[in-house]
Amino acid sequence: MRTYRLAVVKGDGIGPEVTEAALRGMHAAARRCGFSLDTADVDLGAERYLRTGEVLDEGTVSALRTHDAVLLGAVGDPRVPPGILERGLIVALRVAFAQSVNIRPVRLYPGVQSPIRGVTAQNCDLVVIRENTEGLYTGGGTLAHAGTPHAVAVQNSLTTVAATTDTVEFAFRLAQERRRRVTLCHKTNILMHAGQLWQEVVDQVALRYPEVEHDYVHADAMCQHLPLDPGRFDVVVTDNLFGDIISDLGATVQGGLGLAASANYNVAGSAPSMYEPVHGSAPDIAGKGWANPAAAALSAALCLAGLGEREAALCLEAATASVLAELPSLAGPGMGSDTAALGERIAARVMDVDPAQHAGGGGSLMSALSRLAREGATAVI
Ligand code: NAI
Ligand code: MG
Repeated sequence: MRTYRLAVVKGDGIGPEVTEAALRGMHAAARRCGFSLDTADVDLGAERYLRTGEVLDEGTVSALRTHDAVLLGAVGDPRVPPGILERGLIVALRVAFAQSVNIRPVRLYPGVQSPIRGVTAQNCDLVVIRENTEGLYTGGGTLAHAGTPHAVAVQNSLTTVAATTDTVEFAFRLAQERRRRVTLCHKTNILMHAGQLWQEVVDQVALRYPEVEHDYVHADAMCQHLPLDPGRFDVVVTDNLFGDIISDLGATVQGGLGLAASANYNVAGSAPSMYEPVHGSAPDIAGKGWANPAAAALSAALCLAGLGEREAALCLEAATASVLAELPSLAGPGMGSDTAALGERIAARVMDVDPAQHAGGGGSLMSALSRLAREGATAVI
């Protein structure tokens, strides 16, 4: 039987709750499709940091590297100053494992109510491809004379043609498997140097994909187009900061943070990819059973797709969507079931759901990613 080795970082707050629920669905999908998952819990996050002072050590990075994929819950804790875990762990792993693209689907599933009027399952199915290792997130810069009236902060933004090309190339490959449209989102009118580099890379890569149309939208204008007319987008490609921001906007459009999934994806397969919900550790609801596990379950479905397991990915996605459609509310006690019970419901549904049910028109992301993952694996061999 095929077996995948999965490292599981449950993390902090609601991280363990949603990850356990997602794993239940993932194991069910593996069972249904005839393979197995060998999971190993990896102790990282606030508790370990508070206990040992260590965020991420070389030994743990090497151990994670031996796995086929990493599943992450969320990290962050009010007792730990902001940035220590988020930068020291998540950003560090994205860089260490060359997870050069971040895949963030923005999809409204049938039966789920968007808070934005006029957004429907038919017109809301796009994917944000965010460059994942550069831009303002490289962390370089200085703060001189901190805490004085003369304080000066410089925060560097780095854009390389190599990482930009990897990201844009992936966006075009994905679009080719979907509705064949790529939109570059940037701020070329103000961030002229980085903007010019991005636009030139898009123009270059586009020459290799003549069947894929491409256009451009400024990041601020995107904040209007995305909620009001999501149907105009198929694959949106953008830099690290804009991608972080517009995908949270996308999360709202698709029903909230409890539903938004993501993949930190190593395109070449040279190190494991890491799959995590877009939301954080939600300390305000941790331990209450009020967290919606859908974002984690859909991230787990992306993980199955990233492993090339198309049918299992589609089953887990369809099961999650079908349970979501039954919820009276998408978060909190109004969901009518707690996080663990929802995980059980998703796992049970995986066994009898029709995987084609939510495969979507115009090329499902799960199918497209599975195909690209299999092509990538062949290319590496
Ligand atoms: P958050 O995403 O944890 O929570 C924002 C709001 O959404 C809260 O009201 C929360 O209750 C709600 N929410 C989040 N996930 C939910 C779910 N699955 N079901 C129902 N409601 C949900 O963001 P916040 O509060 O800004 O950050 C909390 C901590 O998480 C901070 O330490 C932050 O740095 C960290 N963080 C970590 C991330 C990661 O691990 N990738 C990403 C974002 C934040
Ligand atoms: Mg974010």
